[in-house]
Amino acid sequence: MKFEWSKLNRQQKGTYGEYLAKMEFTMYGFSVFSAEVDDRGIDFVIRNDEKEHFDIQVKTISKTNYTYNYTYIVESKFDRKLIVCLVILEEKKEPNLYLFKKSDWSQDKTGLLTYNNYKNSKEPEYGINIAKKRLKYLKNNFSFDSVVNTLKKRKNMFILDAAQRRYATKAFKPDQKIPDADIKVLQTIVQLSPSSINIQPWHVFLASSDTAKKKILPAVQGPYDFNEQKILDASHIMIFCACSEINDAYLEKLLAKEKADGRLIDEKTVQLIVGVRNAFLASVKKDPKNLKCWVEKQLYIALGNVLLAASAMQIDSVPIEGFDAAILDEQLGLDDSPYHSVVMAAFGYHSDTDFNANLVKSRFDQEDIFTEL
Ligand SMILES: Cc1cc2nc3c(=O)[nH]c(=O)nc-3n(C[C@H](O)[C@H](O)[C@H](O)COP(=O)(O)O)c2cc1C
Repeated sequence: MKFEWSKLNRQQKGTYGEYLAKMEFTMYGFSVFSAEVDDRGIDFVIRNDEKEHFDIQVKTISKTNYTYNYTYIVESKFDRKLIVCLVILEEKKEPNLYLFKKSDWSQDKTGLLTYNNYKNSKEPEYGINIAKKRLKYLKNNFSFDSVVNTLKKRKNMFILDAAQRRYATKAFKPDQKIPDADIKVLQTIVQLSPSSINIQPWHVFLASSDTAKKKILPAVQGPYDFNEQKILDASHIMIFCACSEINDAYLEKLLAKEKADGRLIDEKTVQLIVGVRNAFLASVKKDPKNLKCWVEKQLYIALGNVLLAASAMQIDSVPIEGFDAAILDEQLGLDDSPYHSVVMAAFGYHSDTDFNANLVKSRFDQEDIFTEL
């Protein structure tokens, strides 16, 4: 009789699960490669059309009922390229396959996926807790057929992973510095950020040395002292400052740069841009208070971009508004300049004591956020 899993022993079920998973990936157009010798918990490797590889570990579970079942992956074997394929063999039923990636663990709120950090010396593990009450959730979110498409369209998964991975880091490892090449990339991300009418009203101070950080410390005292340790321990701090004097000299400098970069190809385009810019700025400046608010808004676009980029590069970060801007401006010598500090971001690598690292995200549901018109 078909699907009588009880006729197979444990090893046979495991082999069945592994081959089934291989064939399913093949059916979806992936190339499948098996390891000759494996001691790293990888059963096979798949490659999608974009030539992107993923390691696959198959977990086969047989159940006659789903009262409770548990399987896990130890932390040292679970890197971000690993996908867990769970095969559930239910007696007299077709096998069901599910796929999980590491970032799923930080999203789950149902208890299906748990990170188990044991008090004794046992290695922490990523657990899958299968119970009848969670079956619907399991099927809705992790079924092979739906997840496998995100592996095919790696680009979507990559950006989603980065967004899910990012969180406000509350404690950094004090002794781990971000490589210069990575910092350069983050600087480029800031540089490439879009702004209204390409105004780019920002200047960013970078602080990584103790001397540089000392300049910031007076601004994170008193009501802001909860941010002091982050400044001390983070590898690098970016201080985003906004220019609120958008005058003729500023606009000419901007235009000259655009011409030099070859963005404005002829005089007609120049006139068009200048016309649009002047009209737009006139409306922004109608209320003088509005200009300050407008330039600051542009900085937050750069902030958002750099936070997401850092996460994609496996760098942790925290945006920081909790500081005394007047003190920081004085410390940075901005008092007589058109610039003022608006927001900071600290970058580095989270420490083991960071309570926020394993907290689930809490966000309003998409039904609350979006309305389709
Ligand atoms: C503009 C901005 C300013 C923030 N300021 C601080 C801050 O001063 N100190 C801090 O610890 N977290 C700060 N946060 C972190 C937020 O509290 C955090 O992003 C939010 O609670 C959501 O959590 P998550 O980032 O971990 O998803 C700030 C976040 C943003 C976007």
